[in-house]
Amino acid sequence: MKKLKTTEQENMSDKHYLESSDEESDNIQAVDWNPASWRERFAISEMAISAQQPIWPDQQVLGEVEANLASLPPLVFTGEIRQLRNELAEVCGGRAFVLQAGDCAESFDYALSRPRADSVRDRLKVFLQMALVMTFSSEVPIVKIGRIAGQFAKPRSMATESRQGIELPSFRGHMVNDIEFNQQARTPNPHRLIEAYQHSVSTLNLIRAFTSGGYASLKQIHAQNQEFVATSPVGQRYEKLANDIDSALRTMSALGIDQDIPQFKEVDLYTSHEGLILNYEQALTRKDSLNGDWYNCSGHMIWVGARTNQLHGPHIEFMRGINNPIGCKIGPDSTPAAILELCETLNPKRLPGRLTLISRMGADNVEKVLPALLEAVSKAGHPVVWQCDPMHGNTYTASNGKKTRHFETIMKEITGYFKAHEAIGTWPGGIHLEITGDDVTECIDGIELNEVDLEQSYETLCDPRLNSSQGLKLAFEISELLKSARDFKPST
Ligand code: PEP
Ligand code: CO
Repeated sequence: MKKLKTTEQENMSDKHYLESSDEESDNIQAVDWNPASWRERFAISEMAISAQQPIWPDQQVLGEVEANLASLPPLVFTGEIRQLRNELAEVCGGRAFVLQAGDCAESFDYALSRPRADSVRDRLKVFLQMALVMTFSSEVPIVKIGRIAGQFAKPRSMATESRQGIELPSFRGHMVNDIEFNQQARTPNPHRLIEAYQHSVSTLNLIRAFTSGGYASLKQIHAQNQEFVATSPVGQRYEKLANDIDSALRTMSALGIDQDIPQFKEVDLYTSHEGLILNYEQALTRKDSLNGDWYNCSGHMIWVGARTNQLHGPHIEFMRGINNPIGCKIGPDSTPAAILELCETLNPKRLPGRLTLISRMGADNVEKVLPALLEAVSKAGHPVVWQCDPMHGNTYTASNGKKTRHFETIMKEITGYFKAHEAIGTWPGGIHLEITGDDVTECIDGIELNEVDLEQSYETLCDPRLNSSQGLKLAFEISELLKSARDFKPST
């Protein structure tokens, strides 16, 4: 294996935390790469803006923050990252499906009336409900990845925002600056990188407690149905499914089948975020002290956004060397040739589970653009996990100025995505959604929520999210498509 440059992070490697496996390393072995090599791909100022990096006002403070972050413990462990890659390899083989979902942008601020723990718990509730619906309705194993515990930075189409003749830097997520419109709030502050780490720690701590401490047990499935959902038609449909599961559990119990096992009591929920602010991602990248592989320990899966996926840009450079499963968003202007180059760069050893391509084409484009990409990748023999993000190609501004998405348009993109896979004979892989556990009014459906209702409870820091009822409804509809895809696919 190529000897990597010694860096601070290497010295920081901690044998105790960075557990390693004895198996032979299935390492991605990127040539001429180190955790800082992305820096050679861009110079500060204009390039920083086009690479969606903030202009940090004080480089010395930034350097101190980076050193501090590099000395802090990893958020996730390399063994967990490898486990997720193995699960994604199953998806690659058409034997499982991914549910990746969560906030567009997580927040540092919670109202006193709404403690952070409640917010995390409610996000988890709807996530678990959706995963349960999809597992039991489609009978396909669901790999669960939250957009959580690190989703604090946002790419923006404009570097600045103007209001009444005043121009300030755009809000780039709480990892960078604050949403208030004044000079101080909008100036990028590197200390926020540490705060993002701390918020991720506390969120992750809760997730670990909830998912392994009995909260995710199949015995709790009725408790996942929040009151405001339970009374809706989709909430009642969920109750019926939960009753059927209860009855199956009672039958198993009568047959003497032991239910005191992790599969019944716990779930593996992995974390993910867009790896946008590379100073943060680099500082949390650590070398596994036993097998010498580099892992980004800020989250299990990291993805590159649609605005930063340039083949020779700093983000692709950074991602190509870390051993995590990585995602890359691809938009409607993608060509088969460009996608193949991305596959070669990000997964030259063609390791199944390593690369997820997240298609976000827009409802009207997906059936026109995606089939040629699926065909090219499949012919080239690249093992890719395909995922559909039906949110980001379908955002529009309502007449009252609020950004929104229509449930039917989201469904139209998902249906087109499944059709494209059926036409080419590829496995649809997974779904990538923006959703919250709160009863918000951000996405409309033309029935219960219309544009006039958007004002009622519009809380997102960035893009409009599905609320719990909408998420659950979507899970039932996706399950039908998944069932057909499962039956259509010749068994491997
Ligand atoms: C996002 O996932 O929040 C996002 C900004 O998506 P995209 O990069 O696809 O626009
Ligand atoms: Co978004």
